[in-house]
Order: sequence, then C-alpha cells, then structure tokens
Amino acid sequence: MNVASSISPVITADNESLKRDFPLKPFAIRHKLSGHPLLTLSRIAQLASDMPRDLIEYNSGDASVSQDPDKVKSIDLDPVEVVNRIQTAGAWMVLKRVEKSPEYRQLLEDALTSVARARGFKSIEDAGFSQIEGFLFVSSPNSTTPFHMDAEDNFFVQIYGEKIFAVYDNRDGKIADDAQVEHSTVKHRNVPFNESFRPRGIEFNLDAGDGCYIPYQWPHWVKTAGSHSISMAITWKTEEVRRLNDLHRFNSMLRGIGLPQAAPGARPALDSTKLAVYRTAAAIIEPLRGSETMRRVIRRIALGKNANYYLKKA
Ligand SMILES: [Fe+2]
Repeated sequence: MNVASSISPVITADNESLKRDFPLKPFAIRHKLSGHPLLTLSRIAQLASDMPRDLIEYNSGDASVSQDPDKVKSIDLDPVEVVNRIQTAGAWMVLKRVEKSPEYRQLLEDALTSVARARGFKSIEDAGFSQIEGFLFVSSPNSTTPFHMDAEDNFFVQIYGEKIFAVYDNRDGKIADDAQVEHSTVKHRNVPFNESFRPRGIEFNLDAGDGCYIPYQWPHWVKTAGSHSISMAITWKTEEVRRLNDLHRFNSMLRGIGLPQAAPGARPALDSTKLAVYRTAAAIIEPLRGSETMRRVIRRIALGKNANYYLKKA
C-alpha cells in the first residue's frame, strides 16, 4: 500500500517549504493531477451518482465571504445534474470522503507518498499521514466558498479552472477565539469574516497544476473565476489533530448541557480524562455509522437539531 503507482512525484514543493514551513505554515505546491481520469466532470458525475447522499453537500455559489450558514441559498437540482451543468448551475458542491472508493484512495496515497518521500520518509505512515480523506470540489464560475476552518491538514490541488485561495493566520486567536474554534470543529465550519483580518491573509492564485498546503484550523475563503472549477482537498489527521478534535467534540457536548470547558491544552490532566471517556463512548457508537440513517440520528444527538443542515433539500 505504500508504493506509489507513479514514479514521478504527484505533489512537489520547494525544499525549504517542506522542511521549514510544514506542517505549521501555508505554502504553494505544484501537482500532476490535472487531467487525471478520476478527476474529470463525467467521472465525478458517476461518483456523485454512486455515493451516499449524506456525503454530498451543495448549495448556491452566490455566497458571502462572511456567510451565515442558516441563510445559504439552495440549488434545485439533483447532485448529478449539478456536476453535469456546473458551467451554468451557479452552484458550489463538495463530494466528501472520496477515499471510500479504492481508486480515489490510491490517488490520495500516491500524492501523500510523494510528499512523505520528499520529506525523507519511506512511507505515508512513517510521515504521520493517517486517517487520509479526500474531498472533491466542483464549483460554477464566480462562486464563493465562505470563510471557514477545517479540522485537518490539507494539500489543496487545483485541477481545472482558476481559484483565489486566501488563508489567514489565527494562531493568536484574534480571528476566531477558543469557543469559535470549538464551534467550527464540531457544529459548522463557517467563521465570521471582518475586513480588519486582511493584513493576516496570504492569497494563492491557483490555476490547473497549482495548489497550496493549508494547516489545521487556518481559516480561509475561496473564490472561482470566469470558468467552472474542479479542486480536491487531500487531507489527513495526525495523532495530535485527532486528540484535539475529540476534545473539541466532548467539550461541545459538555457546553451543550451548561458546562462550558477550557480549550484543549489549558488543563492537560483533565484533557486526558475527558479523552478517555469520550473515546470509550465513541467506540461503542462507531459500528452504527455504517448505516446512513443511523449516521443522521447520531449527528442529530451529538450535534443538535441543525446537524443535518445540508440534507434539508435532499
Ligand atoms: Fe476548507
């Protein structure tokens, strides 16, 4: 599983970025995935028709950078129609967890293997790339992905069309505080944007073949240009990221019953206890996640009444 199927590296970046900035700061990358048969509109339409509906999220691309998630405009098309009509649909779509398909999983592993080797490791496991997941984005011209954070590290690759990808430094919590980071991790990814954030931003102008590395929880917004766009997020979670995410989930549940918690790291001994309790409970529930119906029920119990927001128009 650790042998890349292609000889030449799928993802490249300058050595300084891979050794100095990774995994703490964003940087530009290049890749060889544009034109790959798994990443054409027709193949993505087939993938959309094969995937469980709750792994597809889409809405109007006419969104604000600072977008209230409760006021997102919907699109009155089914997922396959959205992909097939993306040039004119005025839509934004993400197909989640594409690694569930073995072909896509191989693509993601090949890409991360090239990064692992460039960093001097023999395999993706040695390099710490675990829980590898892929997210495919299909967007109409002039679409906006609102300002948000993602609870994983990400090599973002631009496959077709142009995008501006703007990422912001929140390491001091001045853009989103601890409570907002918890909310973004567990409830909804969007974060309010304020023009005063601009000096903290780095903008990547991405064309086919370009990409960027986006560290865990660095907020970003994305806009497409005059043609439709195909992009992919190649993501993974290190052991430390999984620990932080589980603590945010457990803290959010406690906040929901009137017991707001200090952020992860503020009380390390208590963090260890909370992590053990949460993971024991999560292990009991995990076998139920195989069913889409049970996934909806679990999301509703764990996250509240808006947990299945993107399935309202299903
Ligand atoms: Fe994102």
